[in-house]
Amino acid sequence: MEKRKVTEAGADKSATKELLARRFSVLGSHSPLFYDEPLHLVRGEGVWLWDAAGRRYLDVYNNVPHVGHCHPRVVEALTRQAGTLNIHTRYLHDNVVEYAERLTAKFDNSLSMAMLTCTGSEANEVALRMARHCTGGQGIIVTDFAYHGNTEAVSELGTGFMPEAKTTRRVRSFPVPDSYNTPSGVVPESLADHYAQAVKDAIDAFEADGIKFAGLLICPDFANEGLVNVPEGFMTKALAHVRSAGGLFIADEVQGGFGRTGRHWWSHQWYGEVPDIVTLGKPMGNGHPIAGVVARADLIDEFGDWAMYFNTFGGNPVSCAAAMAVLDVLEEEQLLENAVNIGAYVASGLRQLQSKHSVIGDVRDKGLFFGVELVRDRASKEPATEETARLVNAMRQQGVLISRIGRHDNVLKMRPPMPFNREHADLLLATLGECLDQL
Ligand SMILES: Cc1ncc(COP(=O)(O)O)c(C=O)c1O
Repeated sequence: MEKRKVTEAGADKSATKELLARRFSVLGSHSPLFYDEPLHLVRGEGVWLWDAAGRRYLDVYNNVPHVGHCHPRVVEALTRQAGTLNIHTRYLHDNVVEYAERLTAKFDNSLSMAMLTCTGSEANEVALRMARHCTGGQGIIVTDFAYHGNTEAVSELGTGFMPEAKTTRRVRSFPVPDSYNTPSGVVPESLADHYAQAVKDAIDAFEADGIKFAGLLICPDFANEGLVNVPEGFMTKALAHVRSAGGLFIADEVQGGFGRTGRHWWSHQWYGEVPDIVTLGKPMGNGHPIAGVVARADLIDEFGDWAMYFNTFGGNPVSCAAAMAVLDVLEEEQLLENAVNIGAYVASGLRQLQSKHSVIGDVRDKGLFFGVELVRDRASKEPATEETARLVNAMRQQGVLISRIGRHDNVLKMRPPMPFNREHADLLLATLGECLDQL
Protein backbone atom coordinates (compact mmCIF):
# COMPACT_ATOMS: atom_id res chain seq x y z
CA MET A 1 0.00 0.00 0.00
CA GLU A 2 2.73 2.43 1.10
CA LYS A 3 4.87 1.37 -1.88
CA ARG A 4 2.01 2.04 -4.31
CA LYS A 5 1.57 5.51 -2.84
CA VAL A 6 5.28 6.29 -3.36
CA THR A 7 5.09 5.07 -6.94
CA GLU A 8 2.00 7.19 -7.62
CA ALA A 9 3.65 10.26 -6.09
CA GLY A 10 6.72 9.61 -8.26
CA ALA A 11 4.53 9.34 -11.35
CA ASP A 12 2.76 12.60 -10.41
CA LYS A 13 6.11 14.33 -10.00
CA SER A 14 7.24 13.26 -13.44
CA ALA A 15 3.86 14.32 -14.94
CA THR A 16 4.34 17.74 -13.30
CA LYS A 17 7.87 17.96 -14.70
CA GLU A 18 6.62 17.11 -18.15
CA LEU A 19 3.83 19.71 -17.89
CA LEU A 20 6.40 22.31 -16.88
CA ALA A 21 8.55 21.54 -19.92
CA ARG A 22 5.51 21.70 -22.24
CA ARG A 23 4.47 24.99 -20.62
CA PHE A 24 7.91 26.53 -21.16
CA SER A 25 7.94 25.45 -24.77
CA VAL A 26 4.44 26.71 -25.61
CA LEU A 27 3.98 29.72 -23.24
CA GLY A 28 7.63 30.71 -23.00
CA SER A 29 9.90 30.91 -19.98
CA HIS A 30 8.67 34.40 -19.09
CA SER A 31 5.17 33.27 -18.23
CA PRO A 32 5.47 33.69 -14.44
CA LEU A 33 5.12 30.83 -11.96
CA PHE A 34 5.13 30.83 -8.17
CA TYR A 35 7.68 28.93 -6.05
CA ASP A 36 11.05 27.27 -6.73
CA GLU A 37 9.07 24.07 -7.15
CA PRO A 38 5.97 25.17 -9.07
CA LEU A 39 2.65 23.82 -7.88
CA HIS A 40 0.55 21.65 -10.17
CA LEU A 41 -2.97 22.24 -8.87
CA VAL A 42 -6.00 20.22 -9.83
CA ARG A 43 -8.79 21.09 -7.41
CA GLY A 44 -10.00 23.72 -4.95
CA GLU A 45 -12.66 23.95 -2.26
CA GLY A 46 -13.12 26.77 0.27
CA VAL A 47 -9.66 27.75 1.51
CA TRP A 48 -8.07 24.50 0.32
CA LEU A 49 -6.24 23.51 -2.84
CA TRP A 50 -5.08 20.05 -3.94
CA ASP A 51 -2.11 19.23 -6.15
CA ALA A 52 -1.81 16.45 -8.72
CA ALA A 53 -0.38 14.09 -6.10
CA GLY A 54 -3.44 14.61 -3.90
CA ARG A 55 -1.66 16.82 -1.34
CA ARG A 56 -3.76 19.50 0.32
CA TYR A 57 -2.60 23.12 0.72
CA LEU A 58 -4.03 25.94 2.80
CA ASP A 59 -4.55 28.92 0.51
CA VAL A 60 -3.49 32.09 2.30
CA TYR A 61 -2.68 33.98 -0.87
CA ASN A 62 -5.52 34.02 -3.37
CA ASN A 63 -8.01 36.86 -3.12
CA VAL A 64 -9.70 36.07 -6.43
CA PRO A 65 -11.64 33.04 -5.08
CA HIS A 66 -13.03 35.60 -2.65
CA VAL A 67 -15.84 33.60 -1.05
CA GLY A 68 -13.84 30.37 -1.29
CA HIS A 69 -12.67 28.19 -4.16
CA CYS A 70 -15.57 26.75 -6.15
CA HIS A 71 -18.21 28.08 -3.76
CA PRO A 72 -21.32 25.99 -4.61
CA ARG A 73 -23.55 29.08 -4.71
CA VAL A 74 -21.35 30.74 -7.34
CA VAL A 75 -20.90 27.52 -9.32
CA GLU A 76 -24.66 26.97 -9.33
CA ALA A 77 -25.40 30.55 -10.41
CA LEU A 78 -22.82 30.32 -13.20
CA THR A 79 -23.97 26.97 -14.52
CA ARG A 80 -27.66 27.82 -14.33
CA GLN A 81 -27.16 31.03 -16.32
CA ALA A 82 -24.71 29.37 -18.75
CA GLY A 83 -27.41 26.80 -19.48
CA THR A 84 -30.02 29.50 -20.07
CA LEU A 85 -28.46 32.38 -22.00
CA ASN A 86 -25.14 34.13 -22.44
CA ILE A 87 -25.07 37.20 -24.65
CA HIS A 88 -23.46 40.64 -24.77
CA THR A 89 -24.96 43.77 -23.29
CA ARG A 90 -26.45 45.28 -26.47
CA TYR A 91 -29.64 43.42 -25.62
CA LEU A 92 -31.72 44.06 -22.54
CA HIS A 93 -31.11 41.57 -19.77
CA ASP A 94 -32.06 41.72 -16.08
CA ASN A 95 -28.72 40.54 -14.72
CA VAL A 96 -26.50 43.43 -15.77
CA VAL A 97 -29.04 45.99 -14.56
CA GLU A 98 -29.71 44.22 -11.27
CA TYR A 99 -26.02 43.70 -10.61
CA ALA A 100 -25.12 47.32 -11.37
CA GLU A 101 -27.93 48.45 -9.04
CA ARG A 102 -26.74 46.21 -6.21
CA LEU A 103 -23.10 47.17 -6.76
CA THR A 104 -23.55 50.94 -6.90
CA ALA A 105 -25.82 50.79 -3.81
CA LYS A 106 -22.71 49.78 -1.85
CA PHE A 107 -20.97 53.08 -2.66
CA ASP A 108 -21.42 56.69 -1.65
CA ASN A 109 -24.52 58.17 -3.32
CA SER A 110 -22.34 60.22 -5.66
CA LEU A 111 -20.92 57.03 -7.22
CA SER A 112 -24.11 55.96 -8.88
CA MET A 113 -23.19 54.47 -12.25
CA ALA A 114 -21.17 51.47 -13.39
CA MET A 115 -19.45 50.19 -16.52
CA LEU A 116 -18.49 46.52 -16.71
CA THR A 117 -15.32 45.04 -18.18
CA CYS A 118 -13.50 41.71 -17.95
CA THR A 119 -10.23 42.64 -16.24
CA GLY A 120 -8.87 45.15 -13.77
CA SER A 121 -6.54 46.45 -16.46
CA GLU A 122 -9.49 47.25 -18.72
CA ALA A 123 -11.24 48.95 -15.82
CA ASN A 124 -8.19 51.14 -15.19
CA GLU A 125 -7.91 51.83 -18.92
CA VAL A 126 -11.53 53.08 -18.93
CA ALA A 127 -10.83 55.14 -15.79
CA LEU A 128 -7.82 56.76 -17.45
CA ARG A 129 -9.70 57.59 -20.62
CA MET A 130 -12.59 58.99 -18.60
CA ALA A 131 -10.37 61.09 -16.33
CA ARG A 132 -8.34 62.41 -19.23
CA HIS A 133 -11.37 63.23 -21.33
CA CYS A 134 -13.39 64.83 -18.53
CA THR A 135 -10.56 66.99 -17.18
CA GLY A 136 -8.99 67.75 -20.54
CA GLY A 137 -5.68 66.82 -18.93
CA GLN A 138 -3.18 64.02 -19.49
CA GLY A 139 -1.11 64.00 -16.31
CA ILE A 140 -1.70 61.10 -13.91
CA ILE A 141 0.06 60.68 -10.57
CA VAL A 142 0.79 57.24 -9.07
CA THR A 143 3.17 55.96 -6.40
CA ASP A 144 6.76 55.17 -7.29
CA PHE A 145 6.16 51.44 -6.86
CA ALA A 146 2.80 50.99 -8.56
CA TYR A 147 1.17 48.25 -10.63
CA HIS A 148 -2.30 48.80 -12.06
CA GLY A 149 -2.45 46.39 -14.98
CA ASN A 150 -1.11 45.44 -18.35
CA THR A 151 -2.61 47.41 -21.25
CA GLU A 152 -0.34 49.91 -23.00
CA ALA A 153 -1.72 53.00 -21.27
CA VAL A 154 -2.00 51.27 -17.89
CA SER A 155 1.56 49.96 -18.20
CA GLU A 156 2.68 53.58 -18.15
CA LEU A 157 1.44 53.64 -14.54
CA GLY A 158 3.50 50.60 -13.60
CA THR A 159 6.39 52.40 -11.94
CA GLY A 160 7.36 49.27 -10.01
CA PHE A 161 7.31 46.80 -12.84
CA MET A 162 6.83 48.19 -16.36
CA PRO A 163 9.34 49.62 -18.84
CA GLU A 164 6.73 52.01 -20.32
CA ALA A 165 6.61 53.87 -16.98
CA LYS A 166 10.20 54.99 -17.44
CA THR A 167 9.68 56.84 -20.68
CA THR A 168 6.25 58.42 -20.49
CA ARG A 169 5.87 62.13 -19.77
CA ARG A 170 2.20 61.95 -18.83
CA VAL A 171 2.71 59.94 -15.63
CA ARG A 172 4.57 61.19 -12.55
CA SER A 173 5.13 59.46 -9.26
CA PHE A 174 5.43 60.30 -5.58
CA PRO A 175 7.12 58.16 -2.93
CA VAL A 176 5.03 55.36 -1.43
CA PRO A 177 3.51 57.00 1.70
CA ASP A 178 5.06 54.47 4.06
CA SER A 179 5.17 55.04 7.83
CA TYR A 180 7.74 52.27 8.37
CA ASN A 181 10.41 52.96 5.74
CA THR A 182 10.53 56.71 6.09
CA PRO A 183 12.73 59.34 4.47
CA SER A 184 15.66 60.37 6.61
CA GLY A 185 15.26 63.60 8.52
CA VAL A 186 11.45 63.56 8.50
CA VAL A 187 9.90 63.21 11.95
CA PRO A 188 6.78 60.99 12.22
CA GLU A 189 4.47 64.00 12.84
CA SER A 190 5.57 65.55 9.53
CA LEU A 191 5.24 62.43 7.38
CA ALA A 192 1.72 63.13 6.13
CA ASP A 193 2.72 66.65 5.06
CA HIS A 194 5.94 65.37 3.53
CA TYR A 195 4.24 62.80 1.29
CA ALA A 196 1.32 65.13 0.47
CA GLN A 197 3.85 67.78 -0.58
CA ALA A 198 5.39 65.19 -2.93
CA VAL A 199 1.97 64.84 -4.60
CA LYS A 200 1.82 68.64 -4.90
CA ASP A 201 5.35 68.69 -6.34
CA ALA A 202 4.30 66.19 -9.02
CA ILE A 203 1.26 68.36 -9.89
CA ASP A 204 3.56 71.40 -10.16
CA ALA A 205 6.06 69.46 -12.28
CA PHE A 206 3.28 68.64 -14.77
CA GLU A 207 2.40 72.30 -14.94
CA ALA A 208 6.04 73.25 -15.52
CA ASP A 209 6.12 70.69 -18.37
CA GLY A 210 2.96 72.15 -19.90
CA ILE A 211 1.00 68.98 -19.18
CA LYS A 212 -2.46 69.53 -17.69
CA PHE A 213 -3.10 67.43 -14.59
CA ALA A 214 -5.90 64.83 -14.78
CA GLY A 215 -5.80 62.92 -11.52
CA LEU A 216 -4.30 60.76 -8.79
CA LEU A 217 -4.67 57.00 -9.27
CA ILE A 218 -3.82 54.85 -6.26
CA CYS A 219 -4.71 51.57 -4.64
CA PRO A 220 -5.99 52.75 -1.24
CA ASP A 221 -4.36 49.70 0.41
CA PHE A 222 -1.05 50.34 -1.35
CA ALA A 223 -1.11 46.57 -1.81
CA ASN A 224 1.57 46.06 -4.45
CA GLU A 225 3.65 48.65 -2.63
CA GLY A 226 3.77 46.27 0.38
CA LEU A 227 0.44 47.04 2.11
CA VAL A 228 2.06 50.00 3.85
CA ASN A 229 0.52 51.86 6.77
CA VAL A 230 -0.23 55.35 5.52
CA PRO A 231 0.57 58.29 7.82
CA GLU A 232 -2.59 59.62 9.44
CA GLY A 233 -3.95 62.58 7.49
CA PHE A 234 -1.92 61.96 4.32
CA MET A 235 -4.87 61.13 2.10
CA THR A 236 -6.94 64.17 3.05
CA LYS A 237 -3.97 66.49 2.56
CA ALA A 238 -2.94 64.90 -0.75
CA LEU A 239 -6.50 65.00 -2.07
CA ALA A 240 -6.81 68.67 -1.16
CA HIS A 241 -3.88 69.35 -3.53
CA VAL A 242 -5.39 67.10 -6.21
CA ARG A 243 -8.80 68.76 -6.05
CA SER A 244 -7.53 72.32 -5.93
CA ALA A 245 -5.55 71.56 -9.11
CA GLY A 246 -8.74 70.29 -10.80
CA GLY A 247 -7.71 66.63 -10.74
CA LEU A 248 -9.80 63.54 -10.05
CA PHE A 249 -9.28 60.85 -7.43
CA ILE A 250 -9.27 57.37 -8.95
CA ALA A 251 -9.27 54.55 -6.40
CA ASP A 252 -8.02 51.23 -7.73
CA GLU A 253 -9.91 48.73 -5.58
CA VAL A 254 -9.03 45.79 -7.81
CA GLN A 255 -7.21 44.02 -4.96
CA GLY A 256 -8.75 45.23 -1.75
CA GLY A 257 -12.37 45.79 -2.74
CA PHE A 258 -15.44 43.72 -1.82
CA GLY A 259 -14.82 43.75 1.92
CA ARG A 260 -11.39 42.16 2.19
CA THR A 261 -10.33 44.78 4.70
CA GLY A 262 -13.35 43.96 6.84
CA ARG A 263 -14.46 47.23 8.31
CA HIS A 264 -15.68 48.58 4.98
CA TRP A 265 -16.73 47.28 1.59
CA TRP A 266 -14.17 49.53 -0.08
CA SER A 267 -10.68 50.48 1.06
CA HIS A 268 -11.03 54.18 0.27
CA GLN A 269 -13.63 54.32 3.07
CA TRP A 270 -10.83 53.87 5.63
CA TYR A 271 -9.83 57.45 4.84
CA GLY A 272 -13.31 58.95 4.86
CA GLU A 273 -12.70 60.17 1.31
CA VAL A 274 -14.96 59.68 -1.70
CA PRO A 275 -13.27 58.99 -5.04
CA ASP A 276 -14.56 60.26 -8.38
CA ILE A 277 -13.87 56.93 -10.06
CA VAL A 278 -13.37 53.47 -8.55
CA THR A 279 -12.01 50.45 -10.41
CA LEU A 280 -12.83 46.86 -9.48
CA GLY A 281 -11.83 43.36 -10.52
CA LYS A 282 -10.17 40.26 -9.11
CA PRO A 283 -12.61 39.06 -6.36
CA MET A 284 -15.70 40.38 -8.14
CA GLY A 285 -16.68 37.08 -9.84
CA ASN A 286 -14.83 34.64 -7.52
CA GLY A 287 -12.52 33.69 -10.40
CA HIS A 288 -14.87 34.37 -13.27
CA PRO A 289 -13.46 37.33 -15.28
CA ILE A 290 -15.62 40.29 -14.43
CA ALA A 291 -14.33 43.76 -13.52
CA GLY A 292 -15.60 47.30 -13.80
CA VAL A 293 -15.73 50.98 -13.04
CA VAL A 294 -18.07 52.73 -10.61
CA ALA A 295 -18.04 56.49 -11.00
CA ARG A 296 -19.92 59.74 -10.74
CA ALA A 297 -22.82 59.73 -13.18
CA ASP A 298 -21.73 63.03 -14.76
CA LEU A 299 -18.31 61.54 -15.60
CA ILE A 300 -19.78 58.39 -17.14
CA ASP A 301 -22.28 60.49 -19.13
CA GLU A 302 -19.63 62.90 -20.38
CA PHE A 303 -17.31 60.04 -21.35
CA GLY A 304 -20.17 58.23 -23.10
CA ASP A 305 -21.14 61.36 -25.05
CA TRP A 306 -17.58 61.47 -26.39
CA ALA A 307 -16.72 57.81 -26.98
CA MET A 308 -18.88 54.74 -27.46
CA TYR A 309 -17.62 52.07 -25.07
CA PHE A 310 -18.55 48.50 -25.81
CA ASN A 311 -16.99 45.41 -24.27
CA THR A 312 -18.00 42.13 -25.91
CA PHE A 313 -17.80 40.05 -22.74
CA GLY A 314 -18.04 42.69 -20.02
CA GLY A 315 -21.33 42.49 -18.11
CA ASN A 316 -22.66 39.37 -19.83
CA PRO A 317 -25.45 37.52 -17.97
CA VAL A 318 -23.20 34.66 -16.83
CA SER A 319 -20.55 37.03 -15.40
CA CYS A 320 -23.22 39.06 -13.65
CA ALA A 321 -24.83 35.90 -12.21
CA ALA A 322 -21.46 34.91 -10.73
CA ALA A 323 -20.85 38.42 -9.39
CA MET A 324 -24.32 38.56 -7.85
CA ALA A 325 -23.76 35.22 -6.14
CA VAL A 326 -20.53 36.67 -4.67
CA LEU A 327 -22.52 39.54 -3.15
CA ASP A 328 -25.11 37.07 -1.81
CA VAL A 329 -22.46 34.93 -0.13
CA LEU A 330 -20.59 37.92 1.31
CA GLU A 331 -23.82 39.16 2.85
CA GLU A 332 -25.36 35.86 3.96
CA GLU A 333 -22.18 34.35 5.39
CA GLN A 334 -21.29 37.71 7.01
CA LEU A 335 -17.82 37.54 5.58
CA LEU A 336 -16.91 41.18 6.29
CA GLU A 337 -17.49 40.55 9.99
CA ASN A 338 -15.42 37.40 9.64
CA ALA A 339 -12.60 39.43 8.07
CA VAL A 340 -12.65 41.80 11.06
CA ASN A 341 -12.64 39.00 13.67
CA ILE A 342 -10.27 36.51 12.10
CA GLY A 343 -8.13 39.32 10.75
CA ALA A 344 -7.57 40.60 14.30
CA TYR A 345 -6.81 37.07 15.49
CA VAL A 346 -4.21 36.49 12.74
CA ALA A 347 -2.67 39.93 13.29
CA SER A 348 -2.27 39.27 17.00
CA GLY A 349 -0.61 35.90 16.22
CA LEU A 350 1.73 37.60 13.75
CA ARG A 351 2.69 40.16 16.40
CA GLN A 352 3.46 37.34 18.84
CA LEU A 353 5.76 35.85 16.21
CA GLN A 354 7.32 39.29 15.78
CA SER A 355 8.16 39.41 19.49
CA LYS A 356 10.03 36.11 19.08
CA HIS A 357 11.71 36.58 15.69
CA SER A 358 13.80 39.68 15.11
CA VAL A 359 13.58 39.14 11.34
CA ILE A 360 9.98 40.42 11.50
CA GLY A 361 10.41 44.17 11.29
CA ASP A 362 6.80 45.23 10.84
CA VAL A 363 3.35 43.61 10.83
CA ARG A 364 0.59 45.36 8.89
CA ASP A 365 -2.99 44.24 8.74
CA LYS A 366 -6.35 45.37 7.45
CA GLY A 367 -9.09 42.74 7.82
CA LEU A 368 -7.92 39.64 5.97
CA PHE A 369 -5.01 41.41 4.27
CA PHE A 370 -1.59 41.09 5.87
CA GLY A 371 1.88 42.39 5.07
CA VAL A 372 4.82 41.19 7.17
CA GLU A 373 8.05 43.01 6.40
CA LEU A 374 11.23 41.01 6.96
CA VAL A 375 14.47 42.82 7.76
CA ARG A 376 18.03 41.73 8.57
CA ASP A 377 18.32 44.37 11.26
CA ARG A 378 15.49 46.19 12.97
CA ALA A 379 17.51 49.40 13.29
CA SER A 380 18.79 49.66 9.71
CA LYS A 381 15.70 47.87 8.25
CA GLU A 382 17.93 46.23 5.66
CA PRO A 383 15.51 44.15 3.54
CA ALA A 384 15.73 40.39 4.17
CA THR A 385 14.95 39.59 0.54
CA GLU A 386 16.60 36.16 0.28
CA GLU A 387 15.22 35.12 3.66
CA THR A 388 11.71 36.11 2.53
CA ALA A 389 12.06 33.98 -0.61
CA ARG A 390 13.27 31.02 1.48
CA LEU A 391 10.39 31.44 3.90
CA VAL A 392 7.72 31.56 1.18
CA ASN A 393 9.16 28.41 -0.41
CA ALA A 394 9.46 26.65 2.95
CA MET A 395 5.80 27.46 3.70
CA ARG A 396 4.81 25.98 0.36
CA GLN A 397 6.75 22.81 1.19
CA GLN A 398 4.86 22.71 4.50
CA GLY A 399 1.51 23.03 2.71
CA VAL A 400 0.67 26.72 3.29
CA LEU A 401 0.55 29.08 0.32
CA ILE A 402 1.66 32.69 0.75
CA SER A 403 3.68 35.07 -1.41
CA ARG A 404 5.86 38.17 -1.18
CA ILE A 405 5.73 41.69 -2.52
CA GLY A 406 7.16 45.20 -2.11
CA ARG A 407 10.05 47.11 -3.60
CA HIS A 408 12.56 44.64 -2.18
CA ASP A 409 10.30 41.59 -2.31
CA ASN A 410 10.69 41.33 1.45
CA VAL A 411 7.07 41.66 2.53
CA LEU A 412 5.09 38.47 3.10
CA LYS A 413 1.77 38.94 1.36
CA MET A 414 -1.24 37.09 2.75
CA ARG A 415 -4.81 37.48 1.51
CA PRO A 416 -6.75 34.25 2.07
CA PRO A 417 -10.25 33.57 0.76
CA MET A 418 -12.75 35.30 3.05
CA PRO A 419 -14.18 32.18 4.79
CA PHE A 420 -10.82 31.81 6.58
CA ASN A 421 -11.51 30.65 10.15
CA ARG A 422 -9.64 30.19 13.45
CA GLU A 423 -8.55 26.67 12.63
CA HIS A 424 -7.04 27.90 9.35
CA ALA A 425 -5.44 30.84 11.15
CA ASP A 426 -3.88 28.50 13.74
CA LEU A 427 -2.42 26.34 10.99
CA LEU A 428 -1.01 29.39 9.21
CA LEU A 429 0.55 30.78 12.40
CA ALA A 430 1.97 27.43 13.56
CA THR A 431 3.51 26.74 10.16
CA LEU A 432 4.92 30.24 9.90
CA GLY A 433 6.41 29.86 13.38
CA GLU A 434 8.07 26.55 12.42
CA CYS A 435 9.45 27.98 9.17
CA LEU A 436 10.78 31.07 11.00
CA ASP A 437 12.48 28.79 13.56
CA GLN A 438 14.30 27.09 10.69
CA LEU A 439 15.12 30.21 8.69
C1 LIG B 1 -3.96 47.02 -7.89
C2 LIG B 1 -4.19 46.32 -9.20
N1 LIG B 1 -4.87 46.94 -10.17
C3 LIG B 1 -5.11 46.36 -11.35
C4 LIG B 1 -4.64 45.09 -11.64
C5 LIG B 1 -4.89 44.49 -12.98
O1 LIG B 1 -5.90 43.54 -12.93
P1 LIG B 1 -6.01 42.44 -14.08
O2 LIG B 1 -4.86 41.49 -13.91
O3 LIG B 1 -7.35 41.80 -13.83
O4 LIG B 1 -5.97 43.12 -15.38
C6 LIG B 1 -3.93 44.41 -10.65
C7 LIG B 1 -3.44 43.04 -10.92
O5 LIG B 1 -2.62 42.47 -10.23
C8 LIG B 1 -3.69 45.03 -9.41
O6 LIG B 1 -3.00 44.43 -8.45
